[in-house]
Amino acid sequence: MSRFPGDFIWGSATAAAQIEGAAHEDGKDDSIWDAFARVPGAIANGDTPEVAVDHYHRIAEDVAIMRDLGLQAYRFSVSWPRVRPGGGAPNPAGIDFYSRLVDELLGADILPWLTLYHWDLPQALQERGGWADRDTALRFAEYAVTVHEALGDRVTHWTTFNEPWCSSMLGYASGEHAPGRQSPAEAFAALHHQHLAHGLAVRALRERGVESIGITLNLTTAVPRDPADLADLDAARRIDGLFNRMYLEPLLLGRYPDDVLADIGAAGWSVPVQDGDLAAIRQPIDLLGVNHYHDDQVSGHPDGGNDGSTARPGRDYASPYPGSEFVTFPGRDLPRTGMGWEVNPAGLTRLLVRLGQEYGDALPPLYVTENGAAYDDIVTGDGLVHDAQRTEFILDHVAAIGDAIEQGADVRGYFVWSLLDNFEWAWGYDERFGIVRVDYDSLVRTVKDSGRAYAALIAAEVAVRG
Ligand code: FCB
Repeated sequence: MSRFPGDFIWGSATAAAQIEGAAHEDGKDDSIWDAFARVPGAIANGDTPEVAVDHYHRIAEDVAIMRDLGLQAYRFSVSWPRVRPGGGAPNPAGIDFYSRLVDELLGADILPWLTLYHWDLPQALQERGGWADRDTALRFAEYAVTVHEALGDRVTHWTTFNEPWCSSMLGYASGEHAPGRQSPAEAFAALHHQHLAHGLAVRALRERGVESIGITLNLTTAVPRDPADLADLDAARRIDGLFNRMYLEPLLLGRYPDDVLADIGAAGWSVPVQDGDLAAIRQPIDLLGVNHYHDDQVSGHPDGGNDGSTARPGRDYASPYPGSEFVTFPGRDLPRTGMGWEVNPAGLTRLLVRLGQEYGDALPPLYVTENGAAYDDIVTGDGLVHDAQRTEFILDHVAAIGDAIEQGADVRGYFVWSLLDNFEWAWGYDERFGIVRVDYDSLVRTVKDSGRAYAALIAAEVAVRG
C-alpha cells in the first residue's frame, strides 16, 4: 500500500539560467543574471551562468539520465531572452532548443512541466524599469503566447512564475538577487506587476486551450519564538503576510491582505493597483506549485538573534521584508544544510495541511515543485558521491508529504530540486543541490547515492500501483 495517490507525479526540477549555459549563443542575449554576474562581488567567486552545466548542448544525455532514474516528469524553465532576445522579436533558434527538449522528453515518456519565468528577465527590459514597470507585464503575456505557439501542441502542464517573492523582494528590495535593486517601492511594484503578468498570461493561454496551468510559490510557516509573546506573534503575522499572503490572497482571492497593506503603508510604501487589476490577477488555476526548503522561527524582539536568517552571509543586503525590518530569525536546535538552512520535514507537513485549511475551495491541487538540499559532496575513491545527508533529507520530506496527505492535504506530485548540480544564483557554484553530480571542469555527470535512492523510491511506488 502506498500513501500517495495512484496518479502522483514523481519528477525533478531545474531552471534555465542555472543549467543551460550557452548564454550568448544562437541569438540569446543578456538576462538580468548575465548582467548581474558582471557586478563585482554580486556572485560568489565571480561565478557566472555563461556555461553553467552546458545543458544546452547535452539534451540527449540529460534526458537519458532522467529516463534511467525513472522520472515521470521534468520541471524546466524557458529563458525569455533566448526566446525573445532583448524582449523583442521571437528567435527561431532559441525556440527550437525547447522544441527539441520537449521532443526528447516525450520520446522518453517524461512529462514536460514548463515554467515561463524562473528569474531571467531580458536585461533590455530591466533597462526600461524591469518588473517595476507595468509594461513588463504586457510584454510577459506576449512572450507566453510565443512559447505556447511553439510548444502548445506538445506541452500540457504550464506554470507562469517561479517564486515571485524572490524575484520581487530579493531582486528589488534586499538586492541579493538580480537586478540587485534596493528599493522597497520598486519591490512592491514588481510584486504587483508579476501578479498582473501571471493573470494576463493565464488568460491568454487559457484562450489558446491550455487546461493545466498554475504558478509556483515558495511558502513558509513563520513560527513565533514564544507563542504567548505578543511581539513574537506579531512578527509571525508580518512574515506570514509578506512571504505567503501577499501572493496567495491576490492570486486565489483577488485581494491584498489589509494588515500587510497597513504595515507597508505605515512605512511609506504601497502596491500600485489600478482598476481591474485584481480581477485580472485572480484567474482560476488548476494547480499550485509549492517550493519548500525550510520554515522559519521568528521574533519581534531584537535580542532574538538572527542565526536562522537565510541570506548569504557577508554581503551588504537590505531587508527583504520592507516595513518589518526589525523582525529577527532566531535559529533553533535543528540540523542544517550546507546553505545553513534548518532541516525540519514536519514543517512541510504543517504547511501543506494548513494551506488546505486556510484556503479551502479556493485552493487548487498542490504539487511540491521544489524541495532538496545542498551539502558539501565528497567524491570518494570509487568515483561516486555517497551523499547520505541529502538522501535522508529527500526521503524524510517525501514521508512528510505522505503525512500531509493522510491529514487531508491534496498533494499530487513531488519534484526534487535539483536534477543536476548547478549555478545557485548569488552563491555561484559553491552550493550543490543535484541528485546528479556535475564535475564543473569536465562537465561529466555522475548519479549520486541520493539519485539512486530517489529512483528506487519511484520504482517502488510505481510497482505498488500494479
Ligand atoms: C529556490 C529556487 C531554485 C533554487 C533553490 C535552491 O528558491 O527556485 O532555483 O535556487 O531555491
